This record gives sequence, C-alpha cells and structure tokens, in this order.
Amino acid sequence: MIATPARPFADPAVVAEIDRLRRELHAVILAHFYQEPAIQDVADHVGDSLYLAQQAAATDAEVIVFAGVHFMAETAKILNPDKLVLVPDLTAGCSLADGCPAEAFAAWLAGYPDHKVVSYINCSAATKALSDIICTSSNAVRVVESFPPDQPLVFAPDRFLGRWVAKETGRPLVLWPGSCEVHEVFSAIRLEELREAHPDAVVAAHPECPEIILDQADHVGSTSSILAFARRTPAREIIVVTEAGILHQMQKENPDKALIPAPGADETCSCNLCPHMRKNTIAKLLACMRDRSPELTVDPALGRRAVVPLDRMLALSRQSPA
Ligand code: 13P
Ligand code: SF4
Repeated sequence: MIATPARPFADPAVVAEIDRLRRELHAVILAHFYQEPAIQDVADHVGDSLYLAQQAAATDAEVIVFAGVHFMAETAKILNPDKLVLVPDLTAGCSLADGCPAEAFAAWLAGYPDHKVVSYINCSAATKALSDIICTSSNAVRVVESFPPDQPLVFAPDRFLGRWVAKETGRPLVLWPGSCEVHEVFSAIRLEELREAHPDAVVAAHPECPEIILDQADHVGSTSSILAFARRTPAREIIVVTEAGILHQMQKENPDKALIPAPGADETCSCNLCPHMRKNTIAKLLACMRDRSPELTVDPALGRRAVVPLDRMLALSRQSPA
C-alpha cells in the first residue's frame, strides 16, 4: 500500500518554467521530505531539517527558494542575511513553533537560571535567540550529550522529542510542553492493529510521536534516518509513522518494498499530512519565483542573535562522530 498524495507529478510546462526561473534568478530550490511529490521532484536538494540548514549555509546561489515551513525558510535567512529567500506560502507555519512564543518562553526560562537551553529547530527566530544551541531530530542526542553530564538542561519546544532524547541519553531534561499536531495524533491502537495485520512488517517512527507509539517502533529517527533504515532493513514491508510525504522518496529508493503509512486516530481525516507543509504547491512555487515574492525577512538584529546557537549546532554537526 502506498500513499498517493495529490498532484504526484508536475506539468512539464510548469517544470520548464521553474527551470528557466531557477537559472534567471541564480536560485537554489530546497525542499523538505514532507512537500508534495511534484515539489520534491523539481528541487535541487530534498532533505530533513538539518540537511536543508546545511545546504542553506553552504550555498553560493543568489536566491534561496525554500519549500518547507516558515521556521525552515527563516533559518535559511538567518544563515544568509544578504540573500533573497523566497517561499511559496508565507503562512505555512508549524504547531511547535507557534506553541512556543518567545515572550512566554523567556518568562518560563526565568525559572531555570542555571539551565542551558537546547531548542529544536522547529521554533521562531526569537525563540532561537533565547537558546544556547539548536538541534534537529537528526542530532538532538548528540547536541544534548555535548554538555557536561552535570549541566542542567532545558529542552524546547517538543516534549515528545525531548522525552525520547532524555531516555536515549539518560539526562533529566526539563521539557517545554509543546507538540507537533501531526505526530501527536497517530493512534497507538490502530498501529497495533496494523502490526497484527502485517506481522512481518517493521515499524519506523519519527521521535515527534508520543512514547506509546515509539514503544512499538523498530526504528526511531529523523526523516533522513527513517529513509536510511528503510534502505537497509531486509524487511519487505515497512509501516511508516511520520508525515506521508516521505513515502515519495522512500518508494523511489525501495521500489520493491511495500510501504504502509500509519493512520491517524480518525478514519476520515488526512491526519498524516501536515496542513502547514501542504499549503505549498508546485503552482505557488512557480509563482513565488516569477513574482520574487513572498520574500521571507528577519530583523537583522534578531538574526544576529539567532545565528549564534544555529552556528553552534552546525559546527557540532561538522565534527566527526565521537
Ligand atoms: P526532520 O526532517 O528533521 O526529521 O523533522 C521533521 C519535521 O518536524 C519537519 O516538520
Ligand atoms: Fe510542524 Fe509537525 Fe508540520 Fe513538522 S509536521 S511542520 S513539526 S506541524
């Protein structure tokens, strides 16, 4: 069974026009694995949050077209204050970023004066600016382990990712009570039923899922880590517990494996599609390149503060594994 998100293929005329604009603008197109297939197929780089931040940091393109959600494009702009950053839809947000406003976060942090602050990249520039270091789901364990064992830590804004990292590292993290509206609604009961129906299937889940889901998983990791697991597992069936956009790359890489998207709690909803990511369409991607708008901007002073914890993460990720 394969998920078939809408608009699996782009109109060749649209692709040709995007290619022409890409050359004219000297642009690079970055897309997250949760974007619709047509967008993934025209992008220069498709990846997880860490990979896309690394590509943004390294690019010599004059224009960055970011097909993802606001905090991802904002990260690209923080890393490239002098470049034009275009987004297909400026209103594509994220429940994690929206659920951790900087003012409330600052007030909460005042209760933990001795703690260092590790923030998941799924947060605003203002929240990043209050953090000591940023992490993604790819490197959260490593980032937490980079602190001395006796250093108290706050982890924000995803409590489920934070709980998983605490378990993996054995560190008592103080967690901000945020969650991803997509990953928190996967149903543990329906996942159990799916595993019973497919006894030979393995389960791969994103750490933004609640513990009751992660306890059923053979592999827990970021989107790129789930893709790597899918490539190496000898299993012929894989139950995938994350946003269904990832199935596009996974099926390309594993044409002979059966991919089974985990359902949400409700039979009738498309709960495993992120409503924010899905605001972007190939038509909006073309329009933003043609119109040079919407442009993502960041206040330069805020950007200078937010880049500090981001650079710490990128520097740590460049170091070879311990
Ligand atoms: P990664 O791509 O880093 O695994 O994160 C997924 C995500 O939360 C994007 O919304
Ligand atoms: Fe945010 Fe969840 Fe959507 Fe990712 S899938 S952008 S964490 S709401």
